Amino acid sequence: MTQTRKVDFSGVRWGSVEWTNLGTLYLRACESRSPNPILGDDAAAEAVDRIDYDWARMRRYMLPPANQWLVALRAARLDDWSAAFLGRHPDAVVLHLGCGMDTRAFRLRLPRHVQWFDVDQPNVIELRRKLYADRDGYRMLGSSVTEASWLDETPTDRPTLIVAEGLLMYLPQSEVRTLLQRLTDRFTTGELLFDTLSPMGPRLSKVFSKGIVKWGTSDARELERWNPRLRFLEQNSALAGYERINSTPIRLLYRLIHATPARNYDVLNRFEF
Ligand SMILES: C[S@@+](CC[C@H](N)C(=O)[O-])C[C@H]1O[C@@H](n2cnc3c(N)ncnc32)[C@H](O)[C@@H]1O
Repeated sequence: MTQTRKVDFSGVRWGSVEWTNLGTLYLRACESRSPNPILGDDAAAEAVDRIDYDWARMRRYMLPPANQWLVALRAARLDDWSAAFLGRHPDAVVLHLGCGMDTRAFRLRLPRHVQWFDVDQPNVIELRRKLYADRDGYRMLGSSVTEASWLDETPTDRPTLIVAEGLLMYLPQSEVRTLLQRLTDRFTTGELLFDTLSPMGPRLSKVFSKGIVKWGTSDARELERWNPRLRFLEQNSALAGYERINSTPIRLLYRLIHATPARNYDVLNRFEF
C-alpha cells in the first residue's frame, strides 16, 4: 500500500484568515462525505486527507452537521452559474478572487482552453502552494485584489468570468467600487458572480468579530448605479435550495430561517458586463 506524505499545516494560527480558509475547506470535505451531497467536493476531502492539522478541534468549532450545508449551497449555486458560463465560453478566462483554499478549479470540469487564476493575499497563496502547483491553464496569484498590478498578469482577449465568494464584504465600499471599475475597464465582456451581506453584516461584525466585515448592502442591484457597465441578471438567497439537504432537522431549521427576512442576510448575485 502506498502512503502519501501529509503536508504539515500545524503552523496555521487558530483564528487567522488561513485558519478560516481551512474551516470552510473542512466543511466542504464533510459535506462531500455525507449521503447525497449537494456540492460533493471530493477535491476538498482529498485536500483535508493530505493536510496534517488538528481536524478534531476544527470539527468541534465548525460544527459540520449544521454548517456544512450553508457552505455547500452557496458554493454549488456559484459552481452552477460558473459551469453554465464555461459551457457557453469554453475559451474563457476565470478570475477566482479571494479563493482561499477553495477547490472550485478542480471540482468544475474545466474545458481544455480555460485559463484559471486563483487570487488571494500572498500569505494565503503561499499556504495554497503547499498543496497545489501552477500548471497549464491554472495559475495562482498572491496579491491583494485591491492592488492594480496583478491584473497585468491576466489576458484580456477572452470572455471573462469573475467569481468572488466570501470576499467583497471584507473590503470597504470604496475599494469594492474601485475594484469593480478596474475589472470592467480591463475586460470587455463576461460575468461577475459574488455574494453580499446585508447592512447587518458590518453591524454584527463590530460586536462579534472585531469589525472585519466592512461592506453590506440591502440590494446589490445598486452596483448598476455605481458602474453602468454592470447589468444585473439574478440573485438568490444563499439558503435557496435547502430542500435538498439530506438531514430532516437541519432542513427544517434552514426552511424556518428561509421563511424570515434572515434569508436575505447572505445573497448570491450574478451580473454581466
Ligand atoms: C471567508 S474567506 C473565503 C475563501 C473562499 N472563497 C471560500 O469560500 O472558502 C475570505 C478570503 O478572502 C481573502 N481576502 C480578503 N481580503 C482580500 C484582498 N484584499 N485581496 C485578496 N484576497 C482577500 C482572504 O485572504 C480569504 O482567503
